[in-house]
Amino acid sequence: MTEQKTVVLGVTGCIAAYKACEVLRGLQKAGYQVKVIMTKHATEFVGPTTFHALSQFPVGVEMFDEAGDPVPHITRAKEADLFLIAPATANMIAKLAHGIADDLLSSTALACTAPLMIAPAMNEHMWHDTATQDNMRTLRARGVQVVGPATGYLACGDHGDGKLAEVDEIVAAACEALERQLDLAGKNVVITAGPTYEAIDPVRFIGNRSSGKSGYALAREAQLRGAKVTLVAGPTSLEDPYGIEVRHVTSANEMLEATREPFAAADIAIFTAAVADFRPESVAEGKIKKGGKDRLELELVPNPDILKTLAADKGDTFVVGYAAETQNVLQYAKGKLVSKNADLIVANDVSGTLGFGSADNKVWLVSQEGVVELDVMSKEALASAILDAIMDTIDATR
Ligand code: PMT
Repeated sequence: MTEQKTVVLGVTGCIAAYKACEVLRGLQKAGYQVKVIMTKHATEFVGPTTFHALSQFPVGVEMFDEAGDPVPHITRAKEADLFLIAPATANMIAKLAHGIADDLLSSTALACTAPLMIAPAMNEHMWHDTATQDNMRTLRARGVQVVGPATGYLACGDHGDGKLAEVDEIVAAACEALERQLDLAGKNVVITAGPTYEAIDPVRFIGNRSSGKSGYALAREAQLRGAKVTLVAGPTSLEDPYGIEVRHVTSANEMLEATREPFAAADIAIFTAAVADFRPESVAEGKIKKGGKDRLELELVPNPDILKTLAADKGDTFVVGYAAETQNVLQYAKGKLVSKNADLIVANDVSGTLGFGSADNKVWLVSQEGVVELDVMSKEALASAILDAIMDTIDATR
């Protein structure tokens, strides 16, 4: 019989604390054991007895009041398969971001090596405050999983962002994290992401609208599934994900050189980057002046095709290319599967609002076995679906 997994549920001082009871129940129904730690402020909203009765385990509040255990924060930290803090106040988020451990809950979070998930809940202005947003960026970059917050009526009477996510959403996210397989453990994965910029002069370049979101989402998902990930990224405004080696580059030539070494060691290589196909033949030394010109011609020369160059000598590496098309999507994607020597092409139609810079995308997975159409979904969910497809193909063919 497999051992029952444990969720350590942290509850902080917020009107939404009562919803943590439903989260606890949802997790139990899904088959998990839940042990609760509350902050002192949380006990002003719901009594520890409620959580004790529901969970059937004593509830931790104080650092030093657990009979017979001088280090309850270490004990609880070791028990967790998932550390979930719901609701998480702005204060707790700030403590997590800065490693402050001044009560049982924050100390346990610091001592815990299990994945951390938080469901923020607070007043809209507290949520949008620069300090909270900076702290959230820090936590996201470290790989902390975040559920919500939602938008709606808040306890203070305001309407806006900061409402605790729906209980079902929190429970579903926690269950997914608990069941996430480490199917990429021991695998090296290299991912190219974002645009390339090809200099015209010291201040101008040829580029495109790729945000890097798709590649970064794949990198995070691969890391969560146990892979050692190298991300070769063109210019983006995204934070470097914690624990992932990021090689920052600007041009296609730089991207090719930065990808060679991780590609040689890679089990899986995914080319999401929108690489400029051409670059100016020469880069002007100084800023090009308008002068009296009524016309300016730029001579462009082809850039190396990074995917095609590396995949020509791919050995056992499983190679995934992308195809960004505005017409005949599947036909062109099938052509790229062959011409670029890829094992899988992720095709997207970039003629509308999806693809470049969007939060969601719709893709078709094109391989020698056929075409699989996926629904529109977030780039995070897509990353998971694409890695599932890669692992299924590897398992079936190797
Ligand atoms: O970054 P986001 O905002 O999330 O946007 C995602 C995306 C739209 C950039 C992504 O979904 C996508 O379609 N990426 C590929 C963009 C592209 O350049 O497609 P392509 O059809 O021109 O290239 C085909 C493949 O060859 C791609 O894997 C590309 O990385 C690779 N390539 C292309 C040209 C080149 N010189 N070198 C390459 O490696």
